[in-house]
Amino acid sequence: MGQSVLTTGFARVGGVLQCEGVSLERIAREVGTPVYVYSAATIRDRYELLDRMLSPVPHRVHYTLKASSNAAVLKLLRDLGAGVDVVSGGELHRALRAGFAPDDIIFGGVGKTERELAEALDAGVLLINAESEAEVLIIDRLARHRGITARVSLRVNPEVTLDSPHEYIKTGGKGHKFGIPYDEVIHVAEVTAGLANVDLVGLDMHLGSQLSRIDPYREGTERLASIFAELQKRGIDTLEYLDIGGGLGVRYDTEEPPDLRRFAELVLPTVADTGLQLIMEPGRFIIGNAAALVTQVLYRKRSGGKDYVVADAGMTELLRPSHYGAYHKIVAMHEGAETKTVDVVGPVCESGDFLALDRELDDIQPGEYLVVCDVGAYGYVMASNYNSRQRPAEVLVDGDRYAVVTARETYDDLLRLEIAQPEWREGN
Ligand SMILES: Cc1ncc(COP(=O)(O)O)c(C=O)c1O
Repeated sequence: MGQSVLTTGFARVGGVLQCEGVSLERIAREVGTPVYVYSAATIRDRYELLDRMLSPVPHRVHYTLKASSNAAVLKLLRDLGAGVDVVSGGELHRALRAGFAPDDIIFGGVGKTERELAEALDAGVLLINAESEAEVLIIDRLARHRGITARVSLRVNPEVTLDSPHEYIKTGGKGHKFGIPYDEVIHVAEVTAGLANVDLVGLDMHLGSQLSRIDPYREGTERLASIFAELQKRGIDTLEYLDIGGGLGVRYDTEEPPDLRRFAELVLPTVADTGLQLIMEPGRFIIGNAAALVTQVLYRKRSGGKDYVVADAGMTELLRPSHYGAYHKIVAMHEGAETKTVDVVGPVCESGDFLALDRELDDIQPGEYLVVCDVGAYGYVMASNYNSRQRPAEVLVDGDRYAVVTARETYDDLLRLEIAQPEWREGN
């Protein structure tokens, strides 16, 4: 039986597009479209690949919820031994509900509210990645009120030059809003170490996303290690963790994925020399290739000499093409004899609503299905209700079986928080 692999976990087997052992067409018919379909085997493989690569040093892999935060995906990762990285009270809630122990959770984010910091302290998370002196002072105050000592790591802006494919996913360059500017870190660390209700337990960085070169990791890790050495010289010896963030890229098209062997060679010795435990916060690397979005073609159209395929998914289901200009491979559920160059667009009332532009695709007709590949990271989590569209369903495939793990939203869900008869309040 002929088999051609689309991406890890997804293949055309004897003409039938499958996720692991389950036909995607069957899922589309039974669950409806648009639908996100995740491959459990791919998630396991990717986690284990990274875990093995990091094995020469003591390490913890904290999966980043923001990439994809479905409870079933989280439980799968929890069972593999992963921790998590959360950036909001909502993500903390999800992580706890998915059964992660508080000390398997790290809490980050550039704009944490006092309420979120208090929730993190009350939950007893492993550490909070703080991004400014002002935030550390708030944490100290909140911890004092609770009679506890907060565990804080400082997110350093390593000010490293990057090759990330889009400006919006660079975070560790000079002048970005994230982290503590490199030349202020020693000062903030000394302030932190001097606080009565805070323990300074780590240094953290996150360079950016979809990175394929290893050099920025080497450079950033060396910068963290030199800060660590300077802190030791100044008598600050409470650090336990060196967190080098997420950012490892995946293949969407022809990109060269990061060379993990080179990563181990260039980055891990620097970590080993510090004697600290390594933390990584991968998102895309684990989940990026692990899902496809199945959408149905509603119409074919020709306008101004251009061919359009109008699908039932667009920017409300998958924002990445219109927001980041991101490329996602798209294939027809059934291969046709002819191809055409088309724009694949969605139903949303925006000219920027597209999944692909000028793409050569099987000459597909209304009623047929398209499969948009590699949508696991920053896919469903960025879906919106714009145009009062219902967010799609999510399905997890594991071997020869599948389960709906997020129901499709209903019209009632759209109105759930609206107050039809509001209570008016008088005065200024
Ligand atoms: C602080 C932090 N850690 C980890 C990640 C995960 O990045 P990625 O999905 O590229 O691995 C992000 C993503 O933006 C982030 O901001």
